[in-house]
Amino acid sequence: MIKRPRRLRATKEIRDLVHETSIDKTDLIYPIFVIDGETEDIPSMPGIKRYSLADLPQALGEVKKAGVKAVLYFGIPKKKDEYGSEAYNNDGIVQKAIRLTKKLCPDLIVIADICLCEYTSHGHCGVVENGCVINDKTLPLLAKAALSCAAAGADIVAPSDMMDGRVAAIRRVLDENDFENVLIMAYSVKYSSSFYGPFRDAADSAPAFGDRKSYQMDFRNKKEAIIETQADIDEGADIVMVKPALPYLDIAKAIDDTFSVPLAIYHVSGEYSMIKAAAQNGWIDEKSIVMESLTAMKRAGAKMLITYYALDAAKWLEEM
Ligand code: PBG
Repeated sequence: MIKRPRRLRATKEIRDLVHETSIDKTDLIYPIFVIDGETEDIPSMPGIKRYSLADLPQALGEVKKAGVKAVLYFGIPKKKDEYGSEAYNNDGIVQKAIRLTKKLCPDLIVIADICLCEYTSHGHCGVVENGCVINDKTLPLLAKAALSCAAAGADIVAPSDMMDGRVAAIRRVLDENDFENVLIMAYSVKYSSSFYGPFRDAADSAPAFGDRKSYQMDFRNKKEAIIETQADIDEGADIVMVKPALPYLDIAKAIDDTFSVPLAIYHVSGEYSMIKAAAQNGWIDEKSIVMESLTAMKRAGAKMLITYYALDAAKWLEEM
């Protein structure tokens, strides 16, 4: 027999020698919820909390200990209103968390999620008039939110709203205010997905009426992902993202094959909770399922992995 593929799999040492894909700690991004109130568990996401500002230093200590180099912030304000004004309050919860983080851990990469849904009383990602989310009235509010996070010290702003033209609106405002070095990580390919369910409990951001299908993408479509990503790159996105992760690896691969900017993938809340629940029941091996899943995301072309498992994955990488 001339071809014996098993020769390349015969021992761990040979497998390690020829392996193609690996995860590095520097790939990992850890999402953190900060709440204007007391620290709380999130029942649908065991192991994940909404942190008060007072408890944030402890959470950051864990990030540092794990060796994770980047965090992604989501804010949960005390008061919500129709226009999501806490999203662009310079003294809002997320702005305070960013300032505190930069004081305690200046080298930690701070990414601020930019959206209105955690801040609006109706839970939609933009300004609502007559039951519709109005694109162009939302853009200046998103730009203000990005500016206030940049001013607080964010290294990267990450618009997740899916309004048309938001990357251009944000880039313009950042540049006008001397934040030309703040990066934009665009949620370019964000599908309207039921996998966000637990996040909406965590962020208290489920829409009060209707759904997000008029702005988030239809999961039956693939070509749209190319159009959305091209638009964001043309408007100045430095990093693009595909979200959710595992059910959308075909999309991640298409984006990585088509474009040359770094690609992030978001292993979202529902994906986390499904693994967690099965692991807690003893039905699967959590560590190996997570590492296999994250490796698959990298194999599909992602450079960055946004995952609630970031701290665990960093520890597990040490053990491998
Ligand atoms: C805000 C936002 C959402 C997620 C990230 N940013 C929720 C949504 O669009 O409803 C989801 C993240 C997750 O499920 O982990 N728009």
